[in-house]
Amino acid sequence: MNIVVVGTGYVGLVAGACLAKIGHQATCVDIDEEKIKNLKEGKIPIYEPGLSEVVKKEVASKRLSFSTSLKDVLDQAEVVFVAVGTPMRRDGKADLQYVEAVAKEIGQNIKDYKVIVNKSTVPVGTGKEVTDIIAKYYKGSFDVVSNPEFLREGSAVEDFMKPDRIVIGAGSNKARDVMLEVYEPLDYKKITVSIESAEMIKYASNAFLATKISFINEVANICDIVDADVEDVARGMGLDNRIGPKFLKAGIGYGGSCFPKDVNALNQIAGTSGYDFKLLKAVIEVNIKQRLLVIDKLEELLDQIKDQPICVLGLAFKANTDDIRESAAVDIIRTLTGLGANISTYDPEAAEQAKEIMNGGVKFFDDPYEATKDAKALVVATEWPEFKKLDYKKVASLMANPKILIDGRNILEPEEMRKLGFKYVGVGRGKL
Ligand code: UDX
Repeated sequence: MNIVVVGTGYVGLVAGACLAKIGHQATCVDIDEEKIKNLKEGKIPIYEPGLSEVVKKEVASKRLSFSTSLKDVLDQAEVVFVAVGTPMRRDGKADLQYVEAVAKEIGQNIKDYKVIVNKSTVPVGTGKEVTDIIAKYYKGSFDVVSNPEFLREGSAVEDFMKPDRIVIGAGSNKARDVMLEVYEPLDYKKITVSIESAEMIKYASNAFLATKISFINEVANICDIVDADVEDVARGMGLDNRIGPKFLKAGIGYGGSCFPKDVNALNQIAGTSGYDFKLLKAVIEVNIKQRLLVIDKLEELLDQIKDQPICVLGLAFKANTDDIRESAAVDIIRTLTGLGANISTYDPEAAEQAKEIMNGGVKFFDDPYEATKDAKALVVATEWPEFKKLDYKKVASLMANPKILIDGRNILEPEEMRKLGFKYVGVGRGKL
């Protein structure tokens, strides 16, 4: 099928490349000329394992191409995926200006029946709004469909190719059948529902996963008081099939481009519908508090933060990505520099991004050991596998007393670290 994907962010680029990989003719469109020029030369703007290979292969096979003009490529498309950003506004609601602009452009240029697919995460009711915008300019027949993405950064290609489920929210049988044809090569569970239900599935799924994380973080905080180990508790809980082991990793809270934004947006959707979603409010509150725990612990163990040399390992919001959006690590560094700490930091992929947004008080290193040198405290803020494998004996010898090690992701063995001379503090690993 001939498919146009608007927006070459994580979602759009992965979707476009993977749609080509499963045999479609895909064109990715973005108004950013520099980005499209680079993509045409095979330069991928983001760090995403496997994506570059797929893009190169599909460009070579001529199934994947790029354009800066939606107008130029719209005619050829049977299906148009809209995958532009829906950032969080100050009030917590999703900012729909980019989605609306694309809908307008489609309305002004569409000449025959097409299925317009909302891939961006949008509030319930946006499918109807997009339909209205297009209908304002175009009187012919078309359908708007909601097809939420569930891609995790770091494994986005695999998540697209081997999804747990494909959710299709369609208002007509015709549109539903077109979407089933798009995804026909992927032999995974497909569920067809109304547009509104599909939009809600996305929010509810992310909000539930965020709830799991905040829940285990609360359990972790109690574990610290009653001297239990949350890692063992999570393992014991996760073996119950009804609970499952995933998203029970305690730490410094969730970040990234999706969870904080979507949980806030669902809270807003509830609010504007006149519903008080109490649980969700607590999930958000716990997540904010969880980041501050690191600061509290440092204050307690260092007496004061001002002028103290502290190393933070990790800047990305999670491992295997260079994304620092809503990163707990970045938040912690900002708070610490605000309190006058001297921060040294290292991240295998995200340093360049972080340099752009940090203002003073932070030294960036290309080597993790260099970053830990002379630090009195070390915070492991991102769960990069590399941080698990560091030579901590060497780290201990490089650091200054009292050698505090705050393992914000519980990736290290407490006893082992204590034997090496660290004052080890995990999240929910028992009394100090
Ligand atoms: C998420 C969803 O998983 C995906 O389905 C959705 O479409 C987009 O949002 P992503 O943001 O890439 O994907 O990250 P994810 O792997 O889900 O992790 C989100 C955050 O939660 C990270 O900061 C991670 O460190 C944290 N996390 C995750 C925990 O603290 N504990 C866990 O057990 C799992």
